[in-house]
Amino acid sequence: MSQSDSLVEEVIERNPQEKHLSDYRPSDYTISTIDLEFDLFDSQTKVKAVSQVKRVNTEVTPLFLFGESLTLISILVDGVAYSDYQLVEDGIVINQLPASFTLEINTEIDPVANQAFEGLYKSGDAFCTQCEAEGFRRITYYLDRPDILAKFSTKVIADKALYPYLLSNGNQVDQGDLENGRHFVSWVDPFPKPAYLFALVAGDFDCLEDNFVTKSGRDVKLALFVDKGNLDKTQHAMVSLKKSMQWDEQRFNLEYDLDIYMIVAVDFFNMGAMENKGLNVFNSKFVLANSQSATDQDYLGIEAVIGHEYFHNWTGNRITCRDWFQLSLKEGLTVFRDQEFSSDLGSRSVNRIANVMTMRDHQFAEDAGPMSHPIRPESVMEMNNFYTLTVYEKGSEVIRMMHTLLGEEKFQQGMQLYVQRFDGQAVTCDDFVAAMQDASGIDLSLFKRWYSQSGTPHVYVTDHYNSSNQTYQITFKQKTLPTADQKKKLPLHIPVDIELLDSNGNAIELLPGKTNRVLSLTHTEQTFVFKNVLTKPVPCLFRGFSAPVKYQYAYSDEQLLDIMSFASDEFSRWDAGQTLFNKYLVKNVKALQNVEMLSLPEIFIDGFKSVLVSEDLDPSLVADMFAFTSENGARELFDVVDIDAIHTARDFMLQEIATQLHELFVDTYLHHNELKAYQPDIEDIAKRKLKNSALAFIARVDKKLANEYVLAQIDACNNMTDYLGALNAANSGLLDCRASVMQAFDDKWFETGLVMDKWFALQASMPSDNVLQNIEALFNHRSFDFSNPNRLRSLVGAFAQNNTYRFHNIDGSGYAFLTDQLIKLNSQNPQVASRLITPLIQFKRLDEKRVELIKVQLNRLLALPNLAVDLYEKVTKALVQ
Ligand code: TRP
Ligand code: ZN
Repeated sequence: MSQSDSLVEEVIERNPQEKHLSDYRPSDYTISTIDLEFDLFDSQTKVKAVSQVKRVNTEVTPLFLFGESLTLISILVDGVAYSDYQLVEDGIVINQLPASFTLEINTEIDPVANQAFEGLYKSGDAFCTQCEAEGFRRITYYLDRPDILAKFSTKVIADKALYPYLLSNGNQVDQGDLENGRHFVSWVDPFPKPAYLFALVAGDFDCLEDNFVTKSGRDVKLALFVDKGNLDKTQHAMVSLKKSMQWDEQRFNLEYDLDIYMIVAVDFFNMGAMENKGLNVFNSKFVLANSQSATDQDYLGIEAVIGHEYFHNWTGNRITCRDWFQLSLKEGLTVFRDQEFSSDLGSRSVNRIANVMTMRDHQFAEDAGPMSHPIRPESVMEMNNFYTLTVYEKGSEVIRMMHTLLGEEKFQQGMQLYVQRFDGQAVTCDDFVAAMQDASGIDLSLFKRWYSQSGTPHVYVTDHYNSSNQTYQITFKQKTLPTADQKKKLPLHIPVDIELLDSNGNAIELLPGKTNRVLSLTHTEQTFVFKNVLTKPVPCLFRGFSAPVKYQYAYSDEQLLDIMSFASDEFSRWDAGQTLFNKYLVKNVKALQNVEMLSLPEIFIDGFKSVLVSEDLDPSLVADMFAFTSENGARELFDVVDIDAIHTARDFMLQEIATQLHELFVDTYLHHNELKAYQPDIEDIAKRKLKNSALAFIARVDKKLANEYVLAQIDACNNMTDYLGALNAANSGLLDCRASVMQAFDDKWFETGLVMDKWFALQASMPSDNVLQNIEALFNHRSFDFSNPNRLRSLVGAFAQNNTYRFHNIDGSGYAFLTDQLIKLNSQNPQVASRLITPLIQFKRLDEKRVELIKVQLNRLLALPNLAVDLYEKVTKALVQ
């Protein structure tokens, strides 16, 4: 046993427990109402919480309430001071309580000291809260679990000059002035909710107001609060909100339910945004945008996140989760809904491609790594660690598969039944699937295994065409490899959306009037036979990525080119391009390992040439065709990951493509480089995307010309997308102008952190051997702030996640650097630290040398006396994987 192994065991023995789904028990007590009163002060905020509590059983049992980082002042039961309680490590135990009583708890908290941004904290000059998942217990002692639904009222008291706006959930019912320059506002939320949906905000803001009339004619006031001076960046978020409200009525028949909907943008926030009832709190990154400061991707991201949080009002808030193991009940479903929203408003294929890239580049790695878990996890140490790509993105894929199996109409009937049955309740993923099954009459009993089985299934496809009887036979074998959390795997219900192309590239009719068909794989191995197939077809498999699997079929180059040109599904065309690229990537990696020549055949170049010259393809799709498998995604193609060979082979291929298609890239660039007023609409976004993609290819080949284009583009552009597109080409192509254009950007934007995030991310992704020294120097940059999660993600996160080759430098410097940052963050903001650690724990298939280097760093973390449970869970799982 090595020294590092014994340290793991020792720490595992003394440390935190996992909680298990199978241990779920309903609470012994319920709470029907809670009346909160906050007297806000920077470091000594007083919280009074008065709850109506009932015991469920007849037997007298102690009441345990969660509490963390609280100073208890007093407890009263039915108005009388009460002392029969014990403070314990994670809360309080109150004894000998009556069957039904009023519980008053007075606590004091310190929002300024709160750098973890969980509970009540200060973001800049404003107070705000973040209670999901288990942050409410940092505000008061409470039954902080999602199946306790109570009606909340909130009175907020604060200095009137500093905090003119005092906001909370529901509708405002009272307000007034108090002594010493203080004032109060009272709020009542009529909908019972779990504590994680509670929110409070106090501050001085600029406010954009609007209204929305729901389909039943109710007038809803909309209010968007931002830091002073940012009103000119709120238009897009407000428009997105109104589009969300309308879309949810049209597509899901779901209407808003309160008189007011508020969104507050804050600069210090651990995640994207939070769906608190009637009072969303957003990372300002997902609110603020104008043409000068935000890219097209920012505009699209804002629309998606505004939609996501709004859609939670039904899928999450009105119907919530019984326990945190059910998180995907609300998140998977709501991601599905926001993806559909973006697809209905924009390009369906382009959205689909982006979502699949996320799955392949990141979720597959999570599913194969030490934190592997089913979309409904079975055991959890720190809940914050389970807001994952698996729960969110794979969770959405699972909902999408049900949508594929049921079709839109039955799926919507299932949604209506789900809402009817469970409105106002805290329910489970099983409840959701049952509603879908009952409404559709489609058997989902096997399908449910997607909720409990982790790992990415492999599907191996073979076929046979019999020309004498004109039948085409196709065989699927499915296999899911054991994962860190689960050894035994069973077959899943996998929908395969398939199309067959004939020798002319025409789609064959598979059902009356239809050229596609959804096959249901339910066994380990299954064969389907198609009759009356006149010539040997080319199969388009998993159209639209109909299941979150890896599939293999021995496509010839010619077949892939056929799919690229003729498939009716644009996603399939893109996917065939990816498959073709991957095929030669694997070949070239092997060639490198065998000290052979690298190569890319003419047929490959010709295939992509025809994409570039095609006049009828959406420019955005063309750009995506040239967004080849990333170094992260490429790791999924190998059993043993050779970081250097993947980098070299991929770079060779991109260089070859750039060289051979250089003139076409120049044509493409010039063709789409038109000057016009900025509009973030789909057509213009697509053109800018292709143009800037072409520019980066040009920058690989003709540095002088690229330099000219970059400078001219910066000079002429009227929007951030083109500015950043130029900067990106200068940075990734290491053009002569790089330093000067980066400096000019810095001088222009150094006061705007959100904009500088783009610059920090560029710095972090610079393809240069001294990138790390550069990053270290940037910690002292005038715009950098280590306590701001956005800045950290841009500089540290972008390096570790996206600059794969340099992060994995064989000298170990990348690993040591990330670990240094995690050590600094551990005590301050463990939640953010725990998200940044990801690339350091997914090492299993790396070479021995790198694995050893990483283990040394993980052991440094493990040796910390105060290692946060968030990091502890991941580090220990990584070391024993
Ligand atoms: N429920 C939020 C969402 O998906 C996620 C979220 C926001 C969150 N802030 C958080 C989760 C803090 C955990 C901790 O929209
Ligand atoms: Zn969500």
